[in-house]
Amino acid sequence: MPFALEARDLVKRYPGVLAVDGVSFGVPDGVCFGLLGPNGAGKTTTVEIIEGVTPATSGEVLYRGEPAGSRFREETGIQFQATALQDYITVRETLDMFRKLYDRRADLDAVIDACSLGDLLDRDNRKLSGGQRQRLFLAVALVNRPRIVFLDEPTTGLDPQARRNFWDLVKRIRKEGTTIILTTHYMDEAQVLCDEIAIMDHGRIIAQGTPDELLRSRYPGLIIEVPQKDVIDDLAALEHRVLDEAGVVEIVASDVSKALADLGPAVRTLNHIKIRQPTLEDLFLDLTGHSLRP
Ligand SMILES: Nc1ncnc2c1ncn2[C@@H]1O[C@H](COP(=O)(O)OP(=O)(O)OP(=O)(O)O)[C@@H](O)[C@H]1O
Ligand SMILES: [Mg+2]
Repeated sequence: MPFALEARDLVKRYPGVLAVDGVSFGVPDGVCFGLLGPNGAGKTTTVEIIEGVTPATSGEVLYRGEPAGSRFREETGIQFQATALQDYITVRETLDMFRKLYDRRADLDAVIDACSLGDLLDRDNRKLSGGQRQRLFLAVALVNRPRIVFLDEPTTGLDPQARRNFWDLVKRIRKEGTTIILTTHYMDEAQVLCDEIAIMDHGRIIAQGTPDELLRSRYPGLIIEVPQKDVIDDLAALEHRVLDEAGVVEIVASDVSKALADLGPAVRTLNHIKIRQPTLEDLFLDLTGHSLRP
């Protein structure tokens, strides 16, 4: 079966900037696919090429095995990273306006319900909070009953509760079979929502797979954290990295007992160590040298 969506060797060159440098990936139907990467990695440019908003310098986008065309546009919902809402109209009028742009239309009540907008329908767009605006943007992306939805950093700026509520919305539309392309800076978001992720840096994909696959292939075991101030000797025998800002040394340990035995003589005390599971944040840091959050 062809992918729901396939990007083939996408390149975008701006004067003096190679924003996207040969990106290829396929997204199976019904999957939530995450694009992660530091600021300027090329995520938004990549998704905007796929959406047809930005022309590629070269490369090809296929929708269900065919060059992406009018069917793709009709069946796609887009939540842009930065969007303006029209002033002086209400939430209901906004949804109506966007819905009329499509032949394919969702049941508006279902969208309103899914995005918890029932109490806000008569409110002027200007008076929405950040989280309410994000919910409206998502609703706008759903008004044509899309089979594929693009969400570009949908939860940036939301408080922790609003982010979790938004995740529930995304999970719900994913469960209904909608394919989702999500860009995010939040590793917990990627871990919770994405079936598969691609990490981008400098316009290229540098790692791709399910979150578990990626973590297992890079980290065969656990991570031991030691306060930097407790380290009194050379740790060269152990695979480690120093996080100066946090004042912590992290050791990747496939065999924790052995690592602790090796570590013992090199530290003042083992009393302050922490042993934890590796996360996408670790992977991101290792691969890009950047923290996941900007
Ligand atoms: N219209 C443009 N003209 C010139 N350069 C651009 C343009 N749009 C993006 N770029 C450059 O392309 C690169 C990739 O930008 P892009 O917006 O795709 O990054 P991103 O991964 O989405 O970053 P962020 O996490 O900050 O949203 C950056 O260096 C950016 O400055
Ligand atoms: Mg972006």
